[in-house]
Amino acid sequence: MQIEYKTPGPGNLPKILALMPALYSEIGEGLAKVLEEFVRDGQYFKLMAVERGSGAVIGFMAGCCRLEVDFECRAGIIEEIVIHPDYRKLGIGRKMLGEFDNWSRSRGAKGVLVPCGRAGFYEKMGFEKLPVTRYWKDLA
Ligand SMILES: CC(C)(COP(=O)(O)OP(=O)(O)OC[C@H]1O[C@@H](n2cnc3c(N)ncnc32)[C@H](O)[C@@H]1OP(=O)(O)O)[C@@H](O)C(=O)NCCC(=O)NCCS
Repeated sequence: MQIEYKTPGPGNLPKILALMPALYSEIGEGLAKVLEEFVRDGQYFKLMAVERGSGAVIGFMAGCCRLEVDFECRAGIIEEIVIHPDYRKLGIGRKMLGEFDNWSRSRGAKGVLVPCGRAGFYEKMGFEKLPVTRYWKDLA
C-alpha cells in the first residue's frame, strides 16, 4: 500500500469529516466548522494521509504554533490527529507527528504540547504525561 501525505484544501473536507466518527461519537455542525477553519486558515498546520490507489483519506492531523506561557517558549500544539481504524499501527500517526515536529521547529518551537489526548499513543511517541485541570466557560 502506498500512502501520500498532502496538505488538504477545502475540497477535501467531506472526506476529512468522514474520518471523524473514528474519534467522536457525535459529529455536530460545530466540529464541521472548526475543521473547515483549520483547512482554510493558513496559520494552521494540516496534513492528510491518502491511499494512493483509491484516493481515500485515511488520516488527518491539525495543529498550530504559538507562545506557551507555562513552558516559557513557543510550542507546537496538536489540535487533532485521527487515523482510520483500518489503517492504524502502520506508522501513519508517527509519520504525521514527525512532519508536525519539523513544521513546529521551523517556526521556533522548543516542544510540542497535546492539550487533550488519549492515553497510549503519545507515551509511545516520547511525550511525558502531565496532570492538567481544564476550565471552560460558554460565552453567551
Ligand atoms: C492514536 C492514533 C492517531 C495512532 O495512529 P497510528 O497511525 O495507528 O500510529 P502509528 O502506527 O504511527 O504508531 C506508532 C507507535 O505507537 C503505538 N501506538 C499506536 N496507537 C497506540 C495506542 N492507542 N496505544 C498505545 N500505543 C499505540 C504503535 O504500536 C507504534 O509503536 P511501535 O513504533 O513500537 O510499533 C490512532 O490510533 C487514532 O486515530 N486513534 C483514534 C484517535 C485518537 O486517539 N487520537 C489521538 C488522541 S486525541
